[in-house]
Amino acid sequence: MCEGNRWRERNEDMRQDTEEVGTFDLQRKTVMLNSGYEMPIIGLGTWTLSNEEAEVSVYAALQAGMRLIDTARYYRCEKGVGAGIRKAIEEGIVKREGVFVTSKIMPSDYDNAAGGIEDSLKDLGLDYIDLMLIHQPGFNDEAVYKAMEDAVEEGKVRSIGISNYYTPEALEEVLSYARITPSVIQNENHLYYQNQELKDYAQKYGIVIESWYPFGGRGHTAEHFGNEVIMKIAEEHGKTPAQVILRWHLQGGYVAIPGSKDPDHIRENSDIFDFKLSAEEMKAIYDLDRQERYENW
Ligand SMILES: NC(=O)c1ccc[n+]([C@@H]2O[C@H](COP(=O)([O-])OP(=O)(O)OC[C@H]3O[C@@H](n4cnc5c(N)ncnc54)[C@H](OP(=O)(O)O)[C@@H]3O)[C@@H](O)[C@H]2O)c1
Repeated sequence: MCEGNRWRERNEDMRQDTEEVGTFDLQRKTVMLNSGYEMPIIGLGTWTLSNEEAEVSVYAALQAGMRLIDTARYYRCEKGVGAGIRKAIEEGIVKREGVFVTSKIMPSDYDNAAGGIEDSLKDLGLDYIDLMLIHQPGFNDEAVYKAMEDAVEEGKVRSIGISNYYTPEALEEVLSYARITPSVIQNENHLYYQNQELKDYAQKYGIVIESWYPFGGRGHTAEHFGNEVIMKIAEEHGKTPAQVILRWHLQGGYVAIPGSKDPDHIRENSDIFDFKLSAEEMKAIYDLDRQERYENW
C-alpha cells in the first residue's frame, strides 16, 4: 500500500471511530471535522474588507460570540484580521485556541504554495492556521494540496480543505491524490444554489460543506432578503430575513460565513440560536433551489 493510501485509511478510521463527525451541534454551535478538530458553524467573511475594516469587523464578531473567521491571501486583509483577533485576545474576550481561522492559498501562489502559507501566517501574526483551503481549482492543484498536507505535518495548519470544487467527480480527483482527506469544501451555496448532491456525497467522507455567498453576495442580497417565502417565515418567528437564511444554512448542514463590515449586522448574524425552523419551513426553503450560481470561478 502506498503512503498516500495509508494516510487516507488512518484518516477514515478516525472518522468511523467518531460518530459525531459532520453532525452540526446547534447547542455548542460547532461541527466535529474528520481531522478531529471542532469547527464553529457560524462565522464572519472578510472578502472586500480593507485591513482597517477587517480589524473592526473581526473584533465585533468575536465580541458578539462568533468564533469562526474566514479570510484569504487574495483578500489582502489578513493583517487586519490578525489585528482584530489580537485585540480581542488582549481584552480577554477570547483565547487563541477559541478562535477558528481559515485562510486560502491564492492562485498566483500555486507554484509556491508553501511560501503562500508562510505569508499568511506572517500577515495574520499566528503560529498556526486552523483551516487552510486551496482557493479554487487551477494549475498545480496536486502540489498545492501536498503543500497543505506538509503544513499539517509541520504543525502550521490544523485542517485542510478545498474551495470551488462543485461535483463528486472533482472531489474524487482530489481524493485520488490526498494523503489527508479534506475536512471542508467551501463553495458558493445559497437559497438559489444549494448543491445537495455534493453535500450528500461529501458526507460519506465526513467532509463538511461551508457556504460562501450565504446571502447571494453583494448585488444579490436584496433579492434574497426580499424573497416572499423568507419574509413570511421571518415575520412568523420575529426574526430578520438574514437570520432566517443563516438558520436555514445551519439546520441544513452548511457552515455559514456571512461577510459584513457593519457591527450591527454582525451582531444580528450571530443571534440565530433562539429559534428553530420547522420541517415544513426547511422544505419551503429547499424548494427555492434553482441551481443558479452567480460566479463561475
Ligand atoms: N472561497 C471563495 O471563493 C469565496 C468567494 C466569495 C466569498 N467567500 C467568503 O464568503 C464570505 C461571504 O460572502 P460575501 O461576503 O461575498 O457575501 P454574503 O455574505 O452573501 O453577503 C455580504 C453582503 O451582505 C450584507 N449583510 C451582511 N449581514 C447583513 C445583515 N444582517 N443585514 C443586511 N445585510 C447584511 C453585507 O453588507 P454589510 O457589510 O453592510 O453588512 C454585504 O453586502 C466572504 O466574505 C468570504 O469570506 C469565499
